[in-house]
Amino acid sequence: MAYQSVKGMKDLLPVETAVWQELERRIHDVFTRFGYDEVRTPVLEQAELFVKGSGETSDIVGKEMYSLVDKGGDTLALRPEMTPAVVRAYLQHGMGAESPIGKYYYLGPMFRQERPQKGRLRQFHQFGCEVIGGGDSAVDAETILLGIAIYQAFGLSEFLVKLSSLGCPVCRPPYRETLLAALTAVRDSLSAESQRRLATNPLRVLDSKDERDKEATRAVPLMIDHLCPECTAHFAGVRRLLDASGVQYVVDGRIVRGLDYYTRTVYEFISTDLGAQDALGGGGRYDVLVEQMGGKSTPAVGFAAGVERLLIVLEQRGLLPHVVHTPDLYIVAADADSRDAVFTHALALRRLGVTVEIDLLLRSVKAQMREANRRHARHTLVIGSSELERGIAQLKNMSDGSSADVTWNVAEELAARVTAR
Ligand code: HAM
Repeated sequence: MAYQSVKGMKDLLPVETAVWQELERRIHDVFTRFGYDEVRTPVLEQAELFVKGSGETSDIVGKEMYSLVDKGGDTLALRPEMTPAVVRAYLQHGMGAESPIGKYYYLGPMFRQERPQKGRLRQFHQFGCEVIGGGDSAVDAETILLGIAIYQAFGLSEFLVKLSSLGCPVCRPPYRETLLAALTAVRDSLSAESQRRLATNPLRVLDSKDERDKEATRAVPLMIDHLCPECTAHFAGVRRLLDASGVQYVVDGRIVRGLDYYTRTVYEFISTDLGAQDALGGGGRYDVLVEQMGGKSTPAVGFAAGVERLLIVLEQRGLLPHVVHTPDLYIVAADADSRDAVFTHALALRRLGVTVEIDLLLRSVKAQMREANRRHARHTLVIGSSELERGIAQLKNMSDGSSADVTWNVAEELAARVTAR
């Protein structure tokens, strides 16, 4: 085989796209029900947008971003995530002027050059949302409930919601110093990666999966226990609304998330079905990003979740939507003379909304019938010279084997018969 798809990037073949379309339909439905509007931004952005937005010290930018220099000399990047892109669009189009709160959602491909493994691809898909302009705890709670509602739309309830707060520009800097002192004291017991992170982003040491780090940091102070009064009240507000909504969650002070922009609430949807890559989705509040990117000070919160990871879990739990596209009707042309009539009649029926298939390979009647069976057509109709002449043909119902004479050349009549359920 001459060419293969790029490592970590997958083709979606017809059996899969049928399921994806259903999945996307349900996701669009839930976002719409919550009053969110879709935004679609380009896959390529200025690389600088993510360097500034996602953060230079994040793995996503530091290690995983696909970037390229275009013919005009601009450094562009394949988007590794959507948050900075949505904020860019929000600012570029002055969307803040439309309403003091914008609720946006998206669904599309993202790119990260990670080592591919189960649940980890280089081109993967996310659905997610960004609410720009709401600082109240209710917004954080709403996005969490929205994520849960999407999983519930697939019958999925076995996942964990982890919640924490990362504080704000008031309480995080002093905490960071406290943490740094505690980590420096156990520096020699940390993994090489975590020792490096001490200098760049000490908080990330807390969510290291390395056993040495887990052991060494068992007793270090956590942000959640060092919040300022405002952040404490905000976090209590989120918890109150989640409790009132009957959401089960655990507070886990070790969630730090892999991106630099978070403030206050952070959360993750975790599934034990996923193995090492156990995050179905995650997000949180980012109250300083809009201003950092050149806007005026505007609070914001959002989350994103992996479509492929959702599919893994649905498959494992037997919850994959069962979708097969089957034609209402397969019209068999019995001889060369009837082919044109079959062709134009199929078009007339399709215009009426009927799913019709016909043979395009000049195959024998037997081969056409075989194809109708392979496509699981619900009805077949054989048109030959006598049917052409009489305007009457036998319509066969493939599920119960019954057949009946129909005036096949009156499209409305035939359409009504083959679409009746
Ligand atoms: P993230 O945690 O980097 O957050 O990604 C969100 C989700 O995308 C992950 O939980 C996972 O399900 C999926 N994902 C990430 N990388 C891969 C990969 N290589 N292969 C397959 N799935 C993957 C964000 O992207 C933030 N923008 C979320 C957010 C929105 N925060 C605020 N607003």
